[in-house]
Amino acid sequence: MSGSASRAAWPTDGLSFGGDYNPEQWPREVWLEDVALMREARVNLVTLGVFSWGLLEVDDGVFEWEWLDTIIDLLHANGIAVDLATPTASPPQWLLEQHPEILVVDEDGNRRPPGSRQGWCASSPAFAAHADRIVDAIARRYGDHPAVAMWHVGNELGGNNARCYCDASAAAFQTWLALKYDSIQALNDAWGTAVWGQTYRRFEQVQPPRGSGLVKNPSLVLDFDLFSSEALHRYFLRERDVLVRAGVGQPVTTNLMVNARAGVVDHAAWAPSLDIVANDHYTRQGDPRRAQDIAFSGDRVRGLAGRERPWLLMEHAAGAVSWETVNLAKQPGELIRHSLGHIARGSDGALFFQWRASAAGPEQFHSAMLPHAGTASATWRDIVVLGQHLHDLRPVSGTLLEAARVAILFDDKAGWAYEAGPKPTGAITYGDAARTWHDAFWQRNIRVDVVPPSAQLDTYDLVIVPGLYAVSDEDAERIAAVARRGGTVVVTALSGIVDPINRVRLGGYPGAFRELLGVHVDEFFPLLPGDSVALSAGGHGTLWAERVTVTAAEVHSRYAAGPLEGLPAVTCASDTAWYVSTELDEAALGRLVDQLCAARGLVPPAASPAGVEIVRRRSPDREFLFVLNHTGAPVWVDVEGIDLLIQTAVTPSTPLAAGGVRVVAREG
Ligand code: GLA
Repeated sequence: MSGSASRAAWPTDGLSFGGDYNPEQWPREVWLEDVALMREARVNLVTLGVFSWGLLEVDDGVFEWEWLDTIIDLLHANGIAVDLATPTASPPQWLLEQHPEILVVDEDGNRRPPGSRQGWCASSPAFAAHADRIVDAIARRYGDHPAVAMWHVGNELGGNNARCYCDASAAAFQTWLALKYDSIQALNDAWGTAVWGQTYRRFEQVQPPRGSGLVKNPSLVLDFDLFSSEALHRYFLRERDVLVRAGVGQPVTTNLMVNARAGVVDHAAWAPSLDIVANDHYTRQGDPRRAQDIAFSGDRVRGLAGRERPWLLMEHAAGAVSWETVNLAKQPGELIRHSLGHIARGSDGALFFQWRASAAGPEQFHSAMLPHAGTASATWRDIVVLGQHLHDLRPVSGTLLEAARVAILFDDKAGWAYEAGPKPTGAITYGDAARTWHDAFWQRNIRVDVVPPSAQLDTYDLVIVPGLYAVSDEDAERIAAVARRGGTVVVTALSGIVDPINRVRLGGYPGAFRELLGVHVDEFFPLLPGDSVALSAGGHGTLWAERVTVTAAEVHSRYAAGPLEGLPAVTCASDTAWYVSTELDEAALGRLVDQLCAARGLVPPAASPAGVEIVRRRSPDREFLFVLNHTGAPVWVDVEGIDLLIQTAVTPSTPLAAGGVRVVAREG
């Protein structure tokens, strides 16, 4: 059933609304209040049992199901579906006493003590064997329960255990390397171990990249990242297979953490094995571009899920999180607007961490749908309104976003390659360029799919390749094919520099794309943070510059000052293959994006003032325009139809309140 969920398998009728529910933290009289309030808020799905292994298997092979039986029955009696977690995120104390080797070992060789969560090693045989037993037991007990609508494997796999440096991991890594390279000589050649005298004679000599603060071989680091993602993915598949063997028929998922940074796992490799692609997303309150962050994440999750299936926002926050230095509350209106922002980008629901705020424990100051203050709170009032909104948006469920004509390529592996080992600048992080380009399209309400380089690129008119540091020959060729068929490709600096083993592509940068772009770069000239260089076509370059020679391209803009004065900064080959050799400031980027959109006839779904986001989902005969006003003033938008949120007709002269949202349904 891998990746095969049809709409029929969606866990709820209509959009899903609810969150993580941890009844084990509360006495039973609270459970009755919980379900009554869930009904009031129209909650239809809760994630249950995420951290409950020690309360279900209270000792080795000794199970206590009564509390879970009771709460599942209670939820079912109240019409609330259950996304049942396999409780393996936190191993029980008895298991850690028996098998302390399960605990993750950090880079410096220290075994992390018990007491937190997700602290287990993906290569630990003892952990896997015990996990098999509890997963099998829970699947057999609840697989046929009518409340159970979905299975949730573990929690945020890789959240605290993405890399483990223990001896079991080292042995598994050596086996993985032997399979990949076949001979130790091939590994030595690929990694360049002659540098600093690292040559290996046997695979058993290769250790994980241990030692924080040490400078390590970038190919070793990248291979360990790839191995670690695969080890966790194998673990996910193992749990999924236990569930399937036990006979569960519901979709199986796990909650990914997809944003604009290289992930803890290789999401493109994982996504096809999830029946429903689920994402956890938390905005950083210090981020002035929170709406854009949500849009980027949604566009990327959709790019991973595939354009043909909705995905699910598994967690976000109703208010402040508890893991930043200063945990800012959401601004008025953000709770509802952020939830609908995810739905606009293709999520068929909005779930939160968590239902009821904990009184005790490490997350006692994390917001929840039902805060410490209870129902006498602004958050609760917003939650009730949001529940009504999602109910009114039932017709949106199962609809898809209209096809985007622009793709931005994003790859966890390229990010890992970039982050492994010293680089010419520490001022650029993988993902920065992708975010900047995405923001430019966001401001213009031009829809973008954020997709891995391995994705099907045939349907896009415009493909942006922002800082794709590592790329395979095959992917570089598929990108070049876009330009050959007349599509436009924009490659930005720090793309195509290394191969998938993290070796520099020789003969001039950007190695993998030199021919496509008709340029040759012989030296990097990174800029100090805060410095900039004027460009002849207007605006400035920041952070990065390089000495570009054109071999077969037109020069669009030149460096207008400094050591590169007069040399090309932005070029275009055959009217289709652009190269941007610096980080453009907003003015320069805006001009270029306007030019690209004009050339391709890319227009927004409707005209709107700045700071207003418009996204279209559609069914064969209806369209739904999500209009989100991220500004602090009322706006007027050129849209007409029935606003499903107020069940009333709106016209271009109906104001949309400051911070407000409108979902306009129209025939056609
Ligand atoms: C993650 C976890 C949750 C919770 C939230 C808090 O998403 O999955 O269990 O800790 O963070 O933000």
